[in-house]
Amino acid sequence: MKVLIACEYSGIVRDAFAAKGHDAWSCDILPTESPGNHYQGDVLEHLDKGWDLMIAHPPCTYLSNAGARFLYPKGKLNEDRYKLGLKAKEFFIALYNAPINKICVENPISSKIFALPKHTQTIQPYEYGHPFSKNTRLWLKNLPELKPTDIIKKYKPLLPSNSGGKKRGQSYHYSVIWGKPASKFWKGIANAMADQWGTDG
Ligand SMILES: C[S@@+](CC[C@H](N)C(=O)[O-])C[C@H]1O[C@@H](n2cnc3c(N)ncnc32)[C@H](O)[C@@H]1O
Repeated sequence: MKVLIACEYSGIVRDAFAAKGHDAWSCDILPTESPGNHYQGDVLEHLDKGWDLMIAHPPCTYLSNAGARFLYPKGKLNEDRYKLGLKAKEFFIALYNAPINKICVENPISSKIFALPKHTQTIQPYEYGHPFSKNTRLWLKNLPELKPTDIIKKYKPLLPSNSGGKKRGQSYHYSVIWGKPASKFWKGIANAMADQWGTDG
C-alpha cells in the first residue's frame, strides 16, 4: 500500500508501515528524525499522490481542550487565540477531507467551541503497551476501529489535568509533558495501526 503519515517528524508510524513492506512516507514541515522516506514541507501539497491510506497528526495546540485556560483567560474569550484555533480547524478539516480512500486523523480532546466532526473512537497508550493515559481521539474513514493489543493495568496520566489532579496527588511523567517529545506518537499504537490497517481490504 501507498501510505502517507501526515504531520510526522518522528518517523514512528511511517517506520511501522515500512517494516511491513509498505511504500510509506512521512511528511512534516520539520525534517525527519529517523532516516527514511520523508517529504519536508506543507503536507497539503502532497495529498494528491495516489495514496491508499493516510494517518494524520495535525497540530492540536490551539484546538485542544488542555489549552482551554488560554482560550478563556479570566473567563473571557481570547479572540487572537480563537482565530488561531479556527486556522488549526481548517487544516484539520483539509486533512479529514483529503482525496484518499482510507483516512485516520488523530488528535486529543478539542475545545467544544471549535465543533470538530464527531470522532470515531478514543484510544489510550495503556491499551497498546505504554504505561500512560492520554485521551487520544481517532477520526476514521473506511477503516475499522483500532483494537487494543496489550493492556497495561498500572499507568500514569501523561499530561497534567486542568482540574486539580496534582492537588489530588496524581503524579505525572514530567519529562514528556511539554514540547516536542510530548507530541511524538506511540510505537505500540503505530504497530497496531500497521498490523490492523496494513491490508488491501
Ligand atoms: C502534534 S505534532 C505531531 C508529531 C507526530 N506525532 C510525530 O510523532 O512526529 C504536529 C506536527 O505537524 C507539523 N505540521 C504543522 N503544519 C504542517 C503542514 N502544513 N504540513 C506538514 N506538517 C505540518 C508540525 O511541524 C508538527 O511536527
